[in-house]
Formats: sequence, C-alpha cells, structure tokens
Amino acid sequence: MPKDKQTQLITAGRKQKWTKGVVNPPVQRASTIVFETVADKRHATINRGNKELFYGRRGTHTHFAFQDAMAEIEGGAGCALYPCGTAAVTNAILSFVETGDHILMVDTCYEPTRDFCDKIMKKMGVDTTYYDPVIGKDIESLIQPNTKVLFLESPGSITMEVQDVPTLAKIAHKHDIIVMLDNTWAAGVLFNPFEHGVDISIQAATKYIIGHSDVMLGTAVASEKYWEQLREQSYLMGQCVSPDDVYLGLRGLRTLDVRLRQHAENSLKVANWLQSRPEVDHVRHPALDTCLGHEFFKRDFNGGNGLFSFVLKNSVPQATTALLDGMTHFKMGYSWGGFESLILANEPNSFKTLRRVANPNFNGTLVRLHIGLENVDDLIDDLEQGLERYTASIQNQ
Ligand SMILES: Cc1ncc(COP(=O)(O)O)c(C=O)c1O
Repeated sequence: MPKDKQTQLITAGRKQKWTKGVVNPPVQRASTIVFETVADKRHATINRGNKELFYGRRGTHTHFAFQDAMAEIEGGAGCALYPCGTAAVTNAILSFVETGDHILMVDTCYEPTRDFCDKIMKKMGVDTTYYDPVIGKDIESLIQPNTKVLFLESPGSITMEVQDVPTLAKIAHKHDIIVMLDNTWAAGVLFNPFEHGVDISIQAATKYIIGHSDVMLGTAVASEKYWEQLREQSYLMGQCVSPDDVYLGLRGLRTLDVRLRQHAENSLKVANWLQSRPEVDHVRHPALDTCLGHEFFKRDFNGGNGLFSFVLKNSVPQATTALLDGMTHFKMGYSWGGFESLILANEPNSFKTLRRVANPNFNGTLVRLHIGLENVDDLIDDLEQGLERYTASIQNQ
C-alpha cells in the first residue's frame, strides 16, 4: 500500500470537531437534537446534509468522522452509511434508477446483488443484463439507450475474475452511464476506485474494515457529481446505522493496513503451496497468473488480502465433505475479512444456477478460502490433512 494511504488510514476523520481532543472519536448517540433558538434550528435545517447535527437519522459526530474518513481514503466527495453491505448495494442502485431503465450487472456479482436485480428491480420494471466479467471493450455492444448503471465487482465473488475497470468505465461514461463498483475485496484501499473511473464505490465494511466478524456495516462513497443524490435518496429510504457500529468501523480503519498485509502474506504462501499439490487443478488468487484478469490486478491494485479460491481436479461431494468436516482452523462461514480462517466449497454444478454468461471454466470442486491471521504453517498443516482425507475418501469409494 502506498505510504500516503497508510498514513491516511491513521489520520482520516480525526478532526477536532469530531474528536473533541481524544484520539478516538467517542460514540455520540442521538435521536433528538434540541435547539435553543430559532436561528440555531434554521442553521441546522439548512445544513442538515452537510454534517450539522439535526436529527439522529442524519448522523452524529461519530458518523461524520467515519464518513469523512471513508470519503478521504477512497477519494470521493462523500460517504453514505448503511446497516450492511447488501443495503449499500441495493440503495446505491435504487437511488439512481427508475421504471424503464436498464442495468448492466457483472455476472460474477455477490449472489444477493443478483437476487435484488432479479426480484426487486424486475418488479419495479428495471431490466438487468448480466455481462461476462472479462468482456472488456465489448461491453459497448450491450449498452441500450435506457442503460443507467454499469455495475462491477472486482475480483468477482467466489470465482475471483479481476475486471478491466478503466476500460469499462471509459465506455460507460461515453454513454452517460453511472459506474458503480462493489469494492469490498479491496477494502477501499487496495484499489483506488475514483482514479479508475468509478462514480460510486460500495463496500461491505462488515468485512475487512470491521475486521473482527462482529458487526454489519455498509458504505457507498460517491464522486462530486453523484454525492447529493445518493445521500438524499438513501436518507429518504431511511438508511441509518448505530453510532456504536460506526465507531467500530472507524477503529477498524486504524489497523486495516497491517491486517491486510499479514492476510496477503499468509494467503500468498498458502496459494503457492496449493499450486504444488497433486489434488489441485488451479488456484484463483488475483496475485497469481492462474487467476483470470491477473494482468489487471498487477496493473491496478496496491496489494492483496486473504480471500481466494482454488479448484480441485475432481468433483466428489463425499470427499469434499471429508475434507471440510475435519478442519481444525478453517471453519465454514459465509462472511470473510475477519481475523479467522474460513473455508467453503462449491460443486461446479452449483454455478449453472449462479451464473448466466460467465464461463466458470472448471470441472472440479471450487474451494474458497479466507486466510486469517493464525500462524500460516498451522493453516497449511490443516489444509494438508484435509487434502489427505479428501484423497483417502476418493480411494475408498
Ligand atoms: C463482495 C460482497 N459484497 C457485499 C456483501 C454484502 O455484505 P453484508 O453481508 O454486509 O450485507 C458481501 C458479503 O459477503 C460480499 O462478499
């Protein structure tokens, strides 16, 4: 991570107005704000969208500190807060589309993002076309006169394809289309969305920003052009977050760089080890050239993290169960970005319902790992024993 980004993670959001002199901005709880004079009330009303205390739903100093920090770190004009990453995705889209519009959605998006398009957007008369994450400049052929949003997620959920964000964004902007990115994998710091043409950068702060698997939180940072509309429409939809959760988000930012570096070091070591294993067909780690879009990772990202996948040579569900059931350190869990290691498996057939156009391009079981902050040799031992159980189970069939 560049030096200036590391320092920003420590200093962002800590202005005197929010901290009142303490290092960590304290939790300020409020629903009602009271005003002593008509002039004070008028001032708060006029500036209610501009970090002036007005009403709890608009946020308190704790929220304003985190919003400032996120906008500064990701490089946008402002940051809207949501109770989880999914709410950040859905509200960002809802803030900009209307009946009759069309969305271009990457086929490797997070599954609830797809469900939102297929169920809620469809009900509202907004059409979705799914596109291949590695479509590149051919995205232009899918643009319709009513296309309002181009939505990206890079690397893609589970299968990890890295997108050519600048090329996609350039073409979208030629047609006046808003470019939204689910930037969760990069934690807002491994990829600079606004330098690569993104208009709205969305994150499940639930993952690396919180970093301890104990809080749900979503963020959407917008460029100057889209900030006011995102802020006001999200506010109208009642989006707000507890100051305690925001406080933990702010606290998470301070150690994000060191945590990410350790996750990245551990994950690369595990990924390289997996490449040498006879049971493994290939490893989908953005930092390795066996991952689709690796060249864009090298060009556009500042570093890695702990989340990647690998594909086994076979798909034998009983053997996968033998692998998963006996793990010591890797537990099965959906969310990621905490200090702990996680493992999930997907049989190739499951991608037939998950994906429409992206070719998953593999025949074996796909295993997604989140490499935590445990000692990496303990993690490799755990995986080695898992792969031995896997092989023994196949041999016993
Ligand atoms: C890429 C991505 N985006 C969004 C989300 C949703 O975040 P949340 O669980 O906070 O709703 C997730 C959660 O797994 C995710 O992996």
